[in-house]
Amino acid sequence: MDTLAEQPLDPMLMVLHLLRNDPRPNKIDLGIGVYRDDTGHTPILASVKAAERHLIETQTSKDYLSPEGDAGFVAALAPIVLGPSTDDGTMWGMQTPGGTGALRLAAALLHRTNPDCRVWIGTPGYVNHAMLMQAAGLAVIEHPFFDKPTQTLLFDAMMSALNEVRRGDAIVLQSGCHNPTGVEFSHDQWRALAAFLNERGVVPVLDMAYQGLGQGLDEDAWGLRHVLAHVPEALVCVSGSKNFGLYRDRAGALWVQGSNPTSVRRARTNLNLMARTLWSMPPDHGTAVVRIILTTPQLDAQWRSELDVMRDRLTGLRHDLATAVPEFETVKRQSGMFSLLPLDRDQVTRLRIEHGIYMVESGRINIAGLNQGNLPVFASALRSVL
Ligand SMILES: Cc1ncc(COP(=O)(O)O)c(C=O)c1O
Repeated sequence: MDTLAEQPLDPMLMVLHLLRNDPRPNKIDLGIGVYRDDTGHTPILASVKAAERHLIETQTSKDYLSPEGDAGFVAALAPIVLGPSTDDGTMWGMQTPGGTGALRLAAALLHRTNPDCRVWIGTPGYVNHAMLMQAAGLAVIEHPFFDKPTQTLLFDAMMSALNEVRRGDAIVLQSGCHNPTGVEFSHDQWRALAAFLNERGVVPVLDMAYQGLGQGLDEDAWGLRHVLAHVPEALVCVSGSKNFGLYRDRAGALWVQGSNPTSVRRARTNLNLMARTLWSMPPDHGTAVVRIILTTPQLDAQWRSELDVMRDRLTGLRHDLATAVPEFETVKRQSGMFSLLPLDRDQVTRLRIEHGIYMVESGRINIAGLNQGNLPVFASALRSVL
């Protein structure tokens, strides 16, 4: 191992490390991207607890699943993600270890389909996207997406950069609750993008990790479904980590859409093979819980109302923050768990050192880390560094 180069600590883990070593009792954690309730706790949803009880009472074996995982989970989740669809053999899905597993497998499939595929990723974006694509051997090209100082989605700049795409390239697009910016394409922008991708033969990798935490289950999936309806080939990567609160249980799914049933069948055999070499068999617990929730009407209703509570809390906090610090009023027009505040590195460091407030170095905050107790403290600290 002497040949290995030392790797820098992930910026997120660095924040976590500093936070844990800060003895101040009133420190504020806006760093790591997990939902928190008003007491700062990341709860287990009541619907999840009930489904877990049922699972423990009824499960009779821990035998392996197949590399494709729990087909019942995928079937139950499909209408939530994809909307009403007809089973004509052009869409097929499998379970993956979290959204990350879905992205990693999607990247492997892209590479196997076309090793020269270049993956376009908007910047600023979710840090792991580029690393996952590169881990599969794909080249990544960044395109403009968001201007932090003016808090604007750079649609025109993005489209003009995308003019350089080659047929067979891919693009990663987040549907709803963009990490880290909280901004979303308008319906017209999604329409223009879908038409462009179709015309230029670019494969969209649609990543949805926060469905239901922005505008609602259907609205957050609007862009994803619109693109699927207008391109022949696409990959859909979904995480159940946030909307089911199942972070450590690694519940995710990957769907592949193809232009005909034969190519989808081929993709399926390749995905099975590649899953075998990545994780062999996926974990069961979290996806079984999701399947039980979605196939039990009373638990399904309970989960949806718990999701409503989480979403309403995030929306409320966005409004409260915008009211308390009018300079950051754009946060109330953004949605989901994150906003990328127009702060520079010095301001982020001052917030940490002078006020015990922790966020990612880029200025990304987890809105759910705010609560009625710490929001006024955060607002006044922000004003002091502006
Ligand atoms: C945009 C985005 N995609 C995918 C993921 C991966 O989710 P998971 O924890 O299910 O692997 C995340 C997690 O933070 C994310 O923010």
